[in-house]
Amino acid sequence: MSKILVAPSILSADFNHLLDDIKKVEAAGADWLHFDVMDGHFVPNISFGQPVLKSISKSHSLVNDVHIMISDPFKYAPEFIKAGADILTFHYEACHSDKEVFQVIDLIHDYGCKAGLSIKPGTPVDKVFPFLYSLDLVLIMSVEPGFGGQSFITDSLSKVIRLRNKIDEENIKCLIEIDGGINDQTGPLAASMGVDVLVAGSYLFGHEDLANRLERLKKQDG
Ligand code: DX5
Ligand code: ZN
Repeated sequence: MSKILVAPSILSADFNHLLDDIKKVEAAGADWLHFDVMDGHFVPNISFGQPVLKSISKSHSLVNDVHIMISDPFKYAPEFIKAGADILTFHYEACHSDKEVFQVIDLIHDYGCKAGLSIKPGTPVDKVFPFLYSLDLVLIMSVEPGFGGQSFITDSLSKVIRLRNKIDEENIKCLIEIDGGINDQTGPLAASMGVDVLVAGSYLFGHEDLANRLERLKKQDG
């Protein structure tokens, strides 16, 4: 079984001491840093945009895993890549056709960035199958996008299993990431079902034992 990667979501970090929090997760063994961009239109919340990403994307050694929960990803993708995204993940539901999804993927790759596609809990996992050979990552939302601190939606695991089977059957080089309600119970469980990357926000940030918590996410025994 491959190594589990952990991507702390800075949405739950202390923005008054953002760099300190980033250094804490970096020291604790995080692999990626997950940026949750929200526009108040695609999701009913507003978080932060390119200026925050630009200001911190070079101040750590982690992979900048940028999750844009925004409308019109084609228009904004280049700006997030220029601001420092190493992986840019947009939403299937923010596009109006499969053609548009392919256009956004191609645009992200044209800018030299890895491309991820995310689906909300209500979107069947088969919807991403046509794009798997073009994608570097599929992000399965295990909460309704828009807020940290929500409870894990267990049905997400059946999507993980179905996607893992498809990727393995066809020997596709595409990672599976899961996002929302990840903790020391749901994280190892998702990993045992075939997830490669765990996003965690409220389980990590704001806790004295952050390093131990992160270590528990890396455990393989689900
Ligand atoms: C939700 C975001 C998630 C969220 C995770 O829209 O995409 O990344 O911040 O937060 P927790 O881990 O607290 O559910
Ligand atoms: Zn996210």
